[in-house]
Amino acid sequence: MSLRQILIHPDPRLKKMCEPVARVTPEIEALADDMLATMYDAPGVGLAAPQVGVMSRIFVMDATRDPEAERRPMVLINPEIAWSSDDLNTYDEGCLSIPDQYADVTRPAEVRMRWLGLDGKTHEEDFDGLWATCAQHELDHLNGVLFIDHLSAIKRQMITRKMVKLKRERARG
Ligand code: NI
Repeated sequence: MSLRQILIHPDPRLKKMCEPVARVTPEIEALADDMLATMYDAPGVGLAAPQVGVMSRIFVMDATRDPEAERRPMVLINPEIAWSSDDLNTYDEGCLSIPDQYADVTRPAEVRMRWLGLDGKTHEEDFDGLWATCAQHELDHLNGVLFIDHLSAIKRQMITRKMVKLKRERARG
């Protein structure tokens, strides 16, 4: 298990549609392990494969907020939304690929997700609260969509400019 480098926006790999995973291989298992370790290390509540430069439809999440609570690491392969509520929820979202930037995004409050698990079986589960927000945010990543794409053009450009500056500073070291 090893930590992977998280890509920072803007990066063309964060804007691409990811490919479905044909089957669970040892390589996919290793990727999932690395992604969970990278997410917990960051720390974050979700991480999608394109954020570590892998263009496959897989994301990990653990939206357990209470630090005292037991971890619930989840790996979702080829995830899709089977149902979403009419009720909406607004959450102050952030993203590991857009460090230290947060903005309100409104999404369905509840979603039923269907995905392939590492066990090779199809899973289905209803999510609400932060779990629902996180699942939709991560699914967006697999379609080349970032949370800032849900904001106004002005806000998006403002955040993008900050990220360009951040990347320039980091490159200088
Ligand atoms: Ni994100």
